[in-house]
Amino acid sequence: MMEDIHIQARNLYKTYYPALSFGQTFKSWFAYSSTPAGQNALSDISLEIPRGAAVGLIGPNGAGKSTLIKIIVGVLRPTSGQIIVANRVPYKDRMRHVADLGVVFGQRTQLWWDLPVIDSFRLLKDIYDLSNNAYVDSLDELVALLKLEPILKKPVRQLSLGQRMRAEFAAALIHRPSLLILDEPTIGLDALAKQAIRGFIKHNLRNRGTTLLLTTHDMQDVEEMTDSLYLIGKGRILSKGTLADLRARFFPDRILDVEFNELPDLNTLPKGLRIDNISGNNVSFSLSKSAVSSKSIIPSLYAQYDIISLRFGYQSAEEVVRTFYEEHEA
Ligand SMILES: Nc1ncnc2c1ncn2[C@@H]1O[C@H](COP(=O)(O)OP(=O)(O)O)[C@@H](O)[C@H]1O
Ligand SMILES: [Mg+2]
Repeated sequence: MMEDIHIQARNLYKTYYPALSFGQTFKSWFAYSSTPAGQNALSDISLEIPRGAAVGLIGPNGAGKSTLIKIIVGVLRPTSGQIIVANRVPYKDRMRHVADLGVVFGQRTQLWWDLPVIDSFRLLKDIYDLSNNAYVDSLDELVALLKLEPILKKPVRQLSLGQRMRAEFAAALIHRPSLLILDEPTIGLDALAKQAIRGFIKHNLRNRGTTLLLTTHDMQDVEEMTDSLYLIGKGRILSKGTLADLRARFFPDRILDVEFNELPDLNTLPKGLRIDNISGNNVSFSLSKSAVSSKSIIPSLYAQYDIISLRFGYQSAEEVVRTFYEEHEA
């Protein structure tokens, strides 16, 4: 069976042209170069996102993530290349496109600032032309899942950022779109509010087949909400795959953090352990997957030393992604 592709981009380029003053425009008529002064915000972006997938876009500030999101949402037109979302060209067929799309921009609101939250939802009911039944069903469900009851009658401007983001998610999903796009959805939120959003996505949205595309700086977002990643830098796709793929490429070694009762003579360590860091009685080791088996090394450490605690695991997602970008900046 052919995979159903929800979002397909082919060789997308986007250049923002600086707005020229009249004087500059006049001079540019006489300039030798015909190349516009703008730099590419996106260069040769091609991607395919299957229906029902949850995909993260990662990259430093200015990498082009929001530009790509805006092209997929349909508010920007690519300078060249093709973008197709659910068989439509977003910037050409905006009405039908947005009817099946939910968007949350972490730094912008789509709610009416001075109105009670519930009034924004009612306005969206009209905008999306929802039947009463469809609206009430969807609203009841979202109010329960996102715990909106206590804030429905409050004006948006009185909400905390965490409360407002929960309301933003409800607004984005009130018409039950099959595609949800999130641009930095957890930015500025405290740990508890982040957890509320992630839990909602993970437990309530993922299992109904909604396609999810999100940008974030937070690797915890990626780990909890997505299945795979595109790593973007300077307008290009640098790599794609799962976090496990990246980890296998950059950190094939396992990490072993040991807290000793007393720092031992580290010259007598079992073979295969490499010391990464020592801090007090805590030592971080790496051990190459091929060289030794953890089955034998951990018991031999316990036999040899007085160990208080030991944690065996992988390099963190932050570390994996940070290393990736360090190597790509060079
Ligand atoms: N409206 C705009 N006008 C001109 N340049 C822009 C505009 N929006 C973004 N850019 C530029 O395009 C590049 C990509 O920006 P953006 O897509 O916002 O990146 P990200 O979301 O990854 O931080 C940056 O160099 C940014 O300065
Ligand atoms: Mg951005």
